[in-house]
Formats: sequence, C-alpha cells, structure tokens
Amino acid sequence: MPLTTILDRIDEDLPNALTRLSELLRIPSISTDPAFADHCQTAADWLVADLQSIGIKAEKRQAPGHPMVVGHVDGDGPHVLFYGHYDVQPVDPLDLWDNDPFDPRIEDTPNGKVIRGRGTSDDKGQLMTFVEACRAWKAVSGSLPCKITFFFEGEEESGSPSLVPFMRDNAEELRSDIALICDTGLFESRVPAIVTRLRGLLGEEITITGPDKDLHSGMFGGAAINPIRVLSKIIASLHDETGRITVPGFYDGVPELPEDIRAQWEGLGFDHEKFLGDVDLTTPAGEHERSALEMIWSRPTCEVNGIQGGYTGDGFKTVLPSKASAKISFRLVGDQDPHAIRKNFRKMVQDMLPPDCSVEFTGHGAGRASHMSTAHPAFDQARQALSDEWPDPAAFVGCGGSIPIAGHFKDILGTDAMLIGFGKDDDQIHSPNEKYDVESFHKGIRSWARILDAMTR
Ligand code: BES
Ligand code: ZN
Repeated sequence: MPLTTILDRIDEDLPNALTRLSELLRIPSISTDPAFADHCQTAADWLVADLQSIGIKAEKRQAPGHPMVVGHVDGDGPHVLFYGHYDVQPVDPLDLWDNDPFDPRIEDTPNGKVIRGRGTSDDKGQLMTFVEACRAWKAVSGSLPCKITFFFEGEEESGSPSLVPFMRDNAEELRSDIALICDTGLFESRVPAIVTRLRGLLGEEITITGPDKDLHSGMFGGAAINPIRVLSKIIASLHDETGRITVPGFYDGVPELPEDIRAQWEGLGFDHEKFLGDVDLTTPAGEHERSALEMIWSRPTCEVNGIQGGYTGDGFKTVLPSKASAKISFRLVGDQDPHAIRKNFRKMVQDMLPPDCSVEFTGHGAGRASHMSTAHPAFDQARQALSDEWPDPAAFVGCGGSIPIAGHFKDILGTDAMLIGFGKDDDQIHSPNEKYDVESFHKGIRSWARILDAMTR
C-alpha cells in the first residue's frame, strides 16, 4: 500500500480525528488530585474502547494508582511499543483560563488553528497522533504494518509511582525492539526533533513549624520565631552568588558537556534571545558563564515551585504564622543520584534550623536523568521520515523536562526509547490556556505514518 494513500486518508480524516481527541480531552483525568481518580478510570476506558475500534486487543490494567492501558496487535517485522500518558496536570489557577479547560475548542489564532484545553499538548493530543496514524493505516490497508504494543499510563504527571513495579511484573509483555514516546516538542517550535537526553527529577516538600499556633504579630512579633523567615532564609541559601546549588555533594556525577555534543548543539543555531524574549525575559538566571541552552539541557537545577504560609488572602492580617512550607524540585543530569541528594538536602535544612523550629519532609518522586543511544537503525529511519514531512531536516536535541519512563525502558526492559513529539514552546503545558496547534496534530499523525513506513519498508 503506498504511503501517499495513507497520508491522504489522514488528511481527509482530520476533522474526525479532532472530534475523537476532543472526546478524550473532555475527561478531566488529573492524576495528582485524588478527587479526579474516577475520571482517570474513564480516560483509560475511553482509550481501551478507541484502540478496540481499530482492531487492537486492548485492556485496562489496574495498578495501585491509576490504571495502565495495554494493547497488542500482531504483525511481521519489528516489534514497536508506543507510549503516551493520558493523565493531565491540575488546571489551577482556573480564573486565568479563557474557557473551561475541559471543554476543548478549536480557535483561529494569528499563527494558525489551535485546539485549546488541558492535555491538548501534554499529552492527549500527542498520544492520539500515533493512534490516528494507526487508524489511517488500518483503514487503508486492512492491517497494521508491524507488531505494535500500545502502553498508556495515567500517572506521568505525578511521578509515575506504579510504573516500575508494573514494568517489572509485565516485562515479557512490554519488551519490544524499540519504544516510541510522544511527549516532547519541536525544536524552536519548528524543527522536527528526536530527544536524546532528558533531565531527572527529585521533588521535596518541606514544612517548618515554629509556635504551636498562629499568633498576633504585635503581641509576639520580635520574641517569637517566624517560620516564614526561617523558610525564606533556607530557600535563599540554596544557590550561591554564581547561581550554583549549595546542597553538599550536589554536583557529584554532573559531567561537562562532551565537545562533540557542544558542537552539535551550537550547529542548531538556538536563538537565545528569542527563547527568553518570548516569555518577556532578557537575562539567563542560572549558573554564570553557561548559555541558556546548556542551562536547560545539560545543567541541574533547584527550583521552588510553590510556597505557603501565613495570611495570603485579600487585605492584610498581622499574623505570625505557626507553619510555612515550600515545594522544591531538583532537575538532575548525568549520574546525579536523587537519593543521595535527598539525604544531603534534608541534612542541610535540618542543620539550618534555629531553636524552637522543627521540619517535616515529604518526598515526591525521584528519578535519574536519561540518555538515549541513537545507534538503533530506527533513529536514522525516523530522522529521514521526519525530514520528509517537515520543512526543516530533523535534529537530535536535549530536553529540560523529565519523562520517567524513558530511562526505565532501557533499565528494566533493555529496550531503546526514541522520543519524538510535536509540541511547540508556546503550548503553555502545565499552565492556563494550554493548546496544541492543529498543524502539530495533523503533521504529527503524518509523521508517525512516515516513521512506521520507514521502519517496516
Ligand atoms: N511532557 C512533559 C515533559 C516535557 C516537558 C517535554 C517540557 C517537553 C518539554 C511531561 O509530561 C512532564 O511534564 N513531565 C514532568 C514529570 C514529573 C512530574 C515527574 C516534568 O517534567 O515536570
Ligand atoms: Zn507529558
């Protein structure tokens, strides 16, 4: 069956593909909030039914957290596994959304048509690019081009707690020749990209308690320790004046960028000014003497993601709070060991506590960085296929984000993972008004058809 017939079918079926995606987007499958657990089940059921509708033997598999979806279809040639996640990030602050995050709509913008809503880009829209490519293939040729396993997770946005045991328990079933992951973006929103390195992630929540109750800051202020001041001092001390992170041993296992990779990245012509300019910034705020690209692709970070304490409502209240807390995350590179960093971070915080203060820690996931080998022939095949679909030739790139499963494919199953996605930098993933360009969705579907064709020709 010629590829062009399948590509034509994809073009014709785009309106229906968008309708199907909208159905999935209407299910508020927020994984981190237990109040939405039933919706995660519904999203998994929807995916099972959708895979079954194209002849794939699929089922929902319960896990301690949200369920997995696993589907298989037999065929000759390479065995390909495709991974995506159906869970989404919380929507708050809701008042910054222009529309209901779970009532997706297609909008015309100066840059073309977009579909707007939570999960459009991360990751339901991306996940469906592969499913739609398979649907078109099946419709045109009656079967799929090779043996394919579909593996969808519902906990990616909350650190994938059920994933490792599930992969271990089902290793035989999930092992394949290559794992495809669609959860990343185009380079500079334009160039098709294969991501070869991801940062790891360590999450820590700390709560500092001082007085046993909130106090009047006139009656006690000055004499009583204020946990917000203690927390602020600890947070301020996590970086030195050159932007380096001060947790003892933090840089153990952080490699300098090899010269060949540095040269390859320089060849990409990354527009540093535009990157920050697009979010109304001018000056890279990380380690001194490092480029913005290095800061996001090859250097570790420590960021405060949220901070709470005292009175934050309207008006003013002269309170001296009992507690203050912060959510802090570390992005990790190279061989940094999340467990060692957690231990050293906790000791550092403990050592900084003044008298009468106590601290409680809650850990939120710990995953190492991952580096993908590009030796498998699928990488060259995909690179060519992407270059055929998009105006620019495909590039090998880094990614500052984290996708826990990417490393697990290699560690647990011995399978190489190839990360290809079609998100743009302005998709506002994890933020209000998330969107996915209809072009990303459409060309994404076409890209997978071309990649499957190149891998099975
Ligand atoms: N799709 C993202 C990863 C990503 C981020 C790709 C930025 C491209 C650019 C993924 O769903 C994600 O957000 N992962 C979380 C993982 C975490 C919660 C364990 C992340 O990176 O914060
Ligand atoms: Zn994602």
